[in-house]
Amino acid sequence: MTLGIIGGSGVYDLDGLEDARWQEVETPWGAPSDAILTGRLGGRDMAFLPRHARGHRLTPSDVPYRANIDALKRLGVTEVVSVSACGSFREEMAPGDFVIVDQFIDRTFARAKSFFGPGCVAHVSLAHPTCARLSRAAAEAARAAGVTVHEGGTYLAMEGPQFSTRAESEMYRAWGCDVIGMTNMPEAKLAREAELCYASVAMVTDYDCWHDDHGAVDVATVVRTLTANAEAARGLVRGLPERLPARDAPCPEGCDRALDHAIITAADA
Ligand code: ADE
Repeated sequence: MTLGIIGGSGVYDLDGLEDARWQEVETPWGAPSDAILTGRLGGRDMAFLPRHARGHRLTPSDVPYRANIDALKRLGVTEVVSVSACGSFREEMAPGDFVIVDQFIDRTFARAKSFFGPGCVAHVSLAHPTCARLSRAAAEAARAAGVTVHEGGTYLAMEGPQFSTRAESEMYRAWGCDVIGMTNMPEAKLAREAELCYASVAMVTDYDCWHDDHGAVDVATVVRTLTANAEAARGLVRGLPERLPARDAPCPEGCDRALDHAIITAADA
């Protein structure tokens, strides 16, 4: 029962991780983004995966999402907390705030999105793509770390790597999206197929490019805000184990049984 964290250096440069070691993991989908840092924190087994690799070498399109989720599963991870940067479409979701995402619109188009395919076809439900129990724990841990937290929000996943045009930004706002990023899809879909609980903490770094009073997003703005929030992100991670005791019963949301009624291929096919 290991707690997995997918995120940047801000979340794994932690004091107090006992028995810390980097582990190489191979999967049928190739190698994950990087080695995985495992250890114990607050009495829980933890596994940290740098999504873009150490040194930020992988574009959002090049992240090996299937290998990442498979590698975490092989290490015994049952719950995954994703920590990532995002732009905001809402005045009240300001840079520095954390949004606990609970819905997605997937506009990515150049990524492998399923573990299933010819020979074995499955259709998992994504009606509720995140785990409410895990999301609540992440929200509480972030608040305890002093962050302004918004519980619930729709995340527009774009392909990138370029940021959006103003017309796209205004369209996503009109669609009712709250935040935008380049990495949570297909990660959330694959976590569901792997029967893992998944929660997404989206750290607001900018107002994308729709806001008349703020300049269009650029990398310098994103990095500056992420750096300023690195301690808060670590605080969130440190606060997770005490708020999320290892589960000794099935997930109350059913995340660990997502495949029970999903596989359509005949068993003898
Ligand atoms: N990551 C951080 N800010 C972003 C934005 N405005 N659009 C897409 N991804 C982002």
